[in-house]
Amino acid sequence: MNEFLRRVLFLPRQASTMARDIDHLHYFVIIVTMAGATLVALAAAYFILRYRRRPEHGVVPNRKSRELPLMAFWFELGVIGFLLVLFVGWWVVGFRQFVRLEVPPANAMGIYVTGKQWMWTFVYPNGRSSNAVLYVPAHQPVQLLLSSRDVIHSFYVPDFRVKKDAIPGRMTSLWFEATEPGIYPVYCTEYCGEGHSTMRAEVIVLSEADYVAQLEQLPRLDVGGPSYTEPALISAASAESLSLAAMGERVAVMKGCMRCHTADGAPHIGPTWLGLYRSDVPLAGGERILADEAYLTESMMDPMAQLHAGFRPVMPPYQGLISAAETGALVEYIRYLSTRPAGTRLSPLAPRGSPSVQLPVSAPAALELERGTVPVPIGGGVPPRPDGPPYPPMFGEPPPSGVEALP
Ligand code: CUA
Repeated sequence: MNEFLRRVLFLPRQASTMARDIDHLHYFVIIVTMAGATLVALAAAYFILRYRRRPEHGVVPNRKSRELPLMAFWFELGVIGFLLVLFVGWWVVGFRQFVRLEVPPANAMGIYVTGKQWMWTFVYPNGRSSNAVLYVPAHQPVQLLLSSRDVIHSFYVPDFRVKKDAIPGRMTSLWFEATEPGIYPVYCTEYCGEGHSTMRAEVIVLSEADYVAQLEQLPRLDVGGPSYTEPALISAASAESLSLAAMGERVAVMKGCMRCHTADGAPHIGPTWLGLYRSDVPLAGGERILADEAYLTESMMDPMAQLHAGFRPVMPPYQGLISAAETGALVEYIRYLSTRPAGTRLSPLAPRGSPSVQLPVSAPAALELERGTVPVPIGGGVPPRPDGPPYPPMFGEPPPSGVEALP
């Protein structure tokens, strides 16, 4: 039945865990509305014939026939009630599916997607990247974190029944779990200029083992693009084995984030990044917000939009100053600095003068970082402890401690 309807309605393959449920609601709505339309058309045809104008009717309609019989009233009420129940039923089913689509499972693997005129770029947690081909493992939830380098694009995988806009300066997310290995087309579904129709890609779903092997074949991400200069504190050897989170830490140092933020929970000018991801952030306006990828990115691009309570509004906007790839690496680093709790928890609000907030540091298992060598600071200096932070102190501040060493 499912397969028959799928073919009759010209729907693409159902290659994700959500596809079938979405199609079932679609079938339900289509069948009911088609049956309703047929019924109305048949009734109309019958009435046209049965009550067509005849010579004996005269010109003026019969007064008596204009009175509404009681049965007709209840019939009408029944029809309206039935339609209302149908509508609310569809809404409830659709709403539940929407929530399921919007909330990625806690164990979802994050892959960063950047749209630009006119191609898609994908960056994996191990720091490798690919263009126009997205590799994902089957039977594992994958969260795509979308952004754009230029204009609005939209990432659409018909076979997975997922679609989401990629917006410059923002991070949107979608997730799916592919059910079988194969090749699935990706389309851009937002008119983005001359080459819009050529902005295509493929999702290649692989078995777990093939996926791991394939990722090793991919080139390492060039975080800052061609103009990006390698910081002196990273040796060539460690740069080869950088994970995306480690690149994020490097970007954080290069862009000066660590002048105001800490990675170990210590209070400073800005909120600490330790435990920030997925925490419940109190805002200056009194509301609270979940610190997800979207909020973290918005706070980089437009920090005043939703300011963390207890901190002075001193952060400059970074819109246009950090690339989409760098933003992805930063978000991955902040994700790395947190475990991912089942529920949310309170953000370590750090008013001035309060003692350092102690949070457990443990890397999520899904973000196993490849380890490289501990770099030596610029100009020699005191070599950091093997377990110390991999960057030198900025502006004479004591280096954050307690963070697990990154490559
Ligand atoms: Cu990108 Cu249309």
